Amino acid sequence: MSALASALPDFPWDLLEPAKAKAAAHPGGLVDLSVGTPVDPVPALIRTALADASDAPGYPLTAGTPALRAAIAGWVSRACDASGEFGVLPTIGSKELVAWLPTLLGVRPGDVVVIPSVCYPTYEVGGLLAGATVVRSDSLTALGPDPRVKLLWINSPSNPTGKVLPVEHLRKVVSWARERGVTVVSDECYLSLGWETRPVSVLDDAVTEGDYTGVIAVHSLSKRSNLAGYRAGFVAGDPALVGDLLAVRKHAGMIVPAPVQAAMIAALGDETHVGRQRELYAARRETLRTALVKAGFEISHSEAGLYLWATRGEDCWQTVDALADKGILAAPGVFYGPGAAQHVRVALTATDERIAAAAARLT
Ligand SMILES: Cc1ncc(COP(=O)(O)O)c(C=O)c1O
Repeated sequence: MSALASALPDFPWDLLEPAKAKAAAHPGGLVDLSVGTPVDPVPALIRTALADASDAPGYPLTAGTPALRAAIAGWVSRACDASGEFGVLPTIGSKELVAWLPTLLGVRPGDVVVIPSVCYPTYEVGGLLAGATVVRSDSLTALGPDPRVKLLWINSPSNPTGKVLPVEHLRKVVSWARERGVTVVSDECYLSLGWETRPVSVLDDAVTEGDYTGVIAVHSLSKRSNLAGYRAGFVAGDPALVGDLLAVRKHAGMIVPAPVQAAMIAALGDETHVGRQRELYAARRETLRTALVKAGFEISHSEAGLYLWATRGEDCWQTVDALADKGILAAPGVFYGPGAAQHVRVALTATDERIAAAAARLT
């Protein structure tokens, strides 16, 4: 194995295979609530836009077509309440961007990348790919005056916890980072899925007041529009940083395919399908939440996002195993950080029929 490959952690999902095999043996079949991959159809207007753009013999623009750039900018102004001058750039889904962002922004060995204590594993991978030191911390004061810190990730609503960072917290993070020349990257993939709290973008005027210096927001259409299979995401924020990303990505061939660019325009211009999808998830969330609580689980945070963050006060692998006995597959908390060893993440992304089956088995 190369030095780079061996610097990375084990691919977490491989570790879940034994539990998956056990759950799949349930006579009622597997209810897979582990990965969080959308299962509902791609809305017709998006599929039509993709198909209509399928005659695409030439190379697409890394920066996105003018129409896509306008669609992203319009959506960010509306959905993020951002009225200043920000840069935008489409990405091939957001996972690749998360994994390569530190490298693309010039983070190097000796630098520090700060990630939330419990978080989406790819933030750590991105720091390691750049050869940087990765520090888990939710507290700015705990970080102290470390000049090696170059980049800080936040994620609200959080995967896996569903926690939402309030405006005051976002403001504090931005001003802390600006004083130190640290880049703040805010992963907002789940912004449209607030249940008990309205999530706020880091680009919101209430946070940045139209000045995006040192601030980037990361967005994805995977969950909002069921486009995980299309690989459609984008960044918005500091025009200088977004310009740097564009310059490197042009050289590296990191280009969103032309038909997907057309599909993104259709997706970003329509909120009706987003509202419908939200209703489906809200109902599934209610069913699962009620069943988990009845089965003795405590639900932590989970005020937004696509997951229930649940615990029975025992080691997460024990919970994964007990759920697998019922044919239900959940993700163990340790996938998201050593501080989450007693939680499991339960995704809302299964059909109504599978969610009902899970609820019946739990209760
Ligand atoms: C917090 C977070 N960021 C980024 C991603 C990547 O999503 P995608 O690559 O589908 O845009 C995910 C996927 O689950 C996620 O949970």
